[in-house]
Amino acid sequence: MAVEKKLLPSILNADFWNLGELVEAALEGGADGLHMDVMDGLFVPNLTFGPSVVEAVARRTETFVDSHLMIEEPARYAAAFVSAGSNAVSVHWEAERHLHRTLTAIREKGALAGVVINPATPVSVLEEVLPFTDFVLVMSVNPGFGGQKFIPTALKKVEKLKNLLAKLGLEDRVAVEVDGGIKLDNVEDVLRAGADWIVVGSAIFSSPDPRQVRDNAARFKEKLLKFA
Ligand code: DX5
Ligand code: ZN
Repeated sequence: MAVEKKLLPSILNADFWNLGELVEAALEGGADGLHMDVMDGLFVPNLTFGPSVVEAVARRTETFVDSHLMIEEPARYAAAFVSAGSNAVSVHWEAERHLHRTLTAIREKGALAGVVINPATPVSVLEEVLPFTDFVLVMSVNPGFGGQKFIPTALKKVEKLKNLLAKLGLEDRVAVEVDGGIKLDNVEDVLRAGADWIVVGSAIFSSPDPRQVRDNAARFKEKLLKFA
């Protein structure tokens, strides 16, 4: 049974004054969950939020919460993000020396465990960890900010990853997520390359108007459904 497609709006660029209303609008538009960009100012040159914001969102919505930890030594906080209500927690391959242990700890805590690779990190480094992961997040921008330009080499990496998963017999169990610079004019390329979970930030939350956010989400969802 193939991995199901998910549209996961990133709240990073949302108008935080109005976050609840905008999150509800994105869900009304067809989002399959929310992507929470956690940043520590060390692994990436930006600082966002901790488990409390994830908890505020998870508590008020029944939706799938996908926490992307762009932090050094993510093992220190991974469990806290699961306890806060994350259904999926991803850690960067570049930031975690004990990946098998940390992914296993996330799974034991009850969430899906994911590993993230930056644009210059090859898919090949993942071969040994894929049997212990539930999803792989392929970054199509350098992590740290929303509103950046899509890095097209990510498409080949998604294809390489899908081939590697098929070689290992994991293609029906491990989801491939792509994150960064995804717009209406490139999302079909990302899906055609084999992506299952699509993260979209500024292209959905660019407006503070909930109706616009809902419509933005609906337009991406329409494209995803063509590949379902
Ligand atoms: C970047 C984050 C992405 C980003 C996506 O470090 O991981 O999730 O917020 O935003 P857009 O879609 O605007 O690139
Ligand atoms: Zn992200």
